[in-house]
Amino acid sequence: MKGIILAGGSGTRLHPMTLASSKQLLPVYDKPMIYYPLTTLMLAGIREFLVISTPRDLPAFERVLGDGSQWGISLSYAVQDQPRGIAHAYLVAEDFLNGERSALILGDNIFYGSGLPDKLMKARESGHGASVFAYQVHDPERYGVVEFDDGGRPRSIVEKPREPLSDWAVTGLYFHDARAIDIVRSLRPSARGELEITDVNRAYLEMGALDVEFLGRGYAWLDAGTPESLLDAASFIQTLESRQRFKIACPEEVAFSMGWIGREHLLGLAHAISGTTYGKYLSWIATEPLPPGSTSAASPGRALAS
Ligand code: TTP
Repeated sequence: MKGIILAGGSGTRLHPMTLASSKQLLPVYDKPMIYYPLTTLMLAGIREFLVISTPRDLPAFERVLGDGSQWGISLSYAVQDQPRGIAHAYLVAEDFLNGERSALILGDNIFYGSGLPDKLMKARESGHGASVFAYQVHDPERYGVVEFDDGGRPRSIVEKPREPLSDWAVTGLYFHDARAIDIVRSLRPSARGELEITDVNRAYLEMGALDVEFLGRGYAWLDAGTPESLLDAASFIQTLESRQRFKIACPEEVAFSMGWIGREHLLGLAHAISGTTYGKYLSWIATEPLPPGSTSAASPGRALAS
């Protein structure tokens, strides 16, 4: 399975902060926003990624993230010339995917909660069709909304409905099999001129191939697209990190706990930025025993969730 991180768009709701810099490179407390979706996909066991952004911003992503080898992963890059919609990412990623299944995540989405890695692994291993995650929100009309039948199976999925049939929003993380590209090719742009991811998910629903996982109240799903939500996300991360000492969405830590980089390599990364709080954290996790409940080095319990 391959990962796609969609980090383009115009970020107009964050103007003037995004006049010169990409939204997804703005800091969320102590690290660039894109670290959060990247580590979410790493926790699903994905090691090969395509980062998609605008012609203006793509070079900055390359400077920040490099080729991924420092974290035992592979990162490549592609331009989306215009914000043609979330589903358009599949057309940009066609060569990269080369017929493989994929997980697509939005570059401004932050997921956090106990048990998240298991849910992600389950979605990854579900084999075929599509898996998406539903989260209860107070303002469903802003999102793709999924309605369920009495058995908890998805019955309909509608983009930004004026009168939502439920308060379950579809989050910005989508697992799709190789059919996604053909589905996107068959779509027409919506009234707002975008190829809609909700239309892709509806096509899977109509084929009986859409699995919807619930993210209950124990999870946080944040997007950081407005000044208020960006500050909320930073405060949330700061509160947890300063209380527990563990960092959320630290790619070095996830790579280490997945066994993709070794202790010496991690200490080398720490050494390169010694003197910084982040560097001290890397040294600490390289030497700290795993907490109770983390049974092996492959248990990614310390990074995002347990
Ligand atoms: P949005 O937040 O809907 O759009 P935006 O980032 O352009 O922000 P604004 O509404 O303030 O102008 O996009 C959600 C995510 O998807 C975000 O990470 C940007 C990304 N995106 C693309 O990369 N390409 C696209 O064509 C679209 C529609 C979104």
